[in-house]
Amino acid sequence: MEDLQVLEQELTATVNAANDLNSLEDIRVAALGKKGRVSLMMRELGKMTPEQRQEFGPALNGLKTRLLDRIADRKNEMEAAALDARLQAEKIDITLPGPAEVQGSIHPISQVIDEVTEIFAEMGFAVAEGPDIEEDFYNFTALNIPAEHPARQMHDTFYFPEDEDGNRKVLRTHTSPVQIRTMMSSPPPHRIIAPGRTFRCDSDATHTPMFHQVEALVIDKDIHMGHLKGTLEAFIKAFFEVNNVTMRFRPSYFPFTEPSAEVDIGCDFKAGEIKIGEGDDWLEILGCGMVNPRVLENVGIDPNEYQGFAFGVGIDRIAMLKYGIPDLRAFFDADLRWLKHYGFAALDIPTLSTRGV
Ligand code: PHE
Repeated sequence: MEDLQVLEQELTATVNAANDLNSLEDIRVAALGKKGRVSLMMRELGKMTPEQRQEFGPALNGLKTRLLDRIADRKNEMEAAALDARLQAEKIDITLPGPAEVQGSIHPISQVIDEVTEIFAEMGFAVAEGPDIEEDFYNFTALNIPAEHPARQMHDTFYFPEDEDGNRKVLRTHTSPVQIRTMMSSPPPHRIIAPGRTFRCDSDATHTPMFHQVEALVIDKDIHMGHLKGTLEAFIKAFFEVNNVTMRFRPSYFPFTEPSAEVDIGCDFKAGEIKIGEGDDWLEILGCGMVNPRVLENVGIDPNEYQGFAFGVGIDRIAMLKYGIPDLRAFFDADLRWLKHYGFAALDIPTLSTRGV
């Protein structure tokens, strides 16, 4: 019988020296396969006296177990090393720009939301959010649009099926529900904008079933329509990058504001180009008004103490105007040629940040 310790050292050394899975398997077969050295020695046990067997049996079994463990460990080491080598070889720096043909771009809507956010942030507005799938209460009731109110029909609402309690959720038809969520979540004063998706069952050259709005809400003591006008003027000048802008407030009706107005901005359509700011033409861009005292009451704010204004701008609308994009539907066609033409480089900074640099 060979000296088991010497044999174990020898076999372990060959396992340690193995460099690939094939040679490791050869070593395993040569030691533990049917005719392997260890297996043959196991067979010898039968010819031994009971005393010898008691000594060699456990020793051989121990050797076999340790050798199998060592082979398994070596296999893991080799696999880990192979993975490491592959990770090294296939390493890519994802912060480097890709080749031009695979480079993405920022969608004009995202760019405009960034621009609008930046302009209002500078004026001290925080950004608020609400869900796209909204409860009837926030989208309508709390905004002074009770059930059966004709304004509900005006909204072409997408309704969800009724739940167990008889409530129907909606895809929000405007960003105004974020006004309610804001006023219910903390006490006044408030100064927020809420950009986001809105949905109405409507589709033609100037309407898509999903579109974007940005809501603004200011609630404080002594807020009046002058603040609304001043804020809108500052926003429009900064956004369209013009020094002068004529605005027209047309009386309108929204259940959640009183008085209400729609705002047109002056523009000029000469030579197939739109010039924003001045001219003989008018373009409607937003709805606004002083927050209806009934809405304040609905959210537990005392209208004798607090007032405010709100407005809702169509983001897609102002993006088309600023960047000369003629068809609204193209925004959502995911046509790569369109995206390449109208998209922005990923590191383009919103216009406001670069002013005066
Ligand atoms: N929510 C209105 C709309 O979608 C716009 C609006 C917002 C009007 C805030 C007044 C005040 O048409």
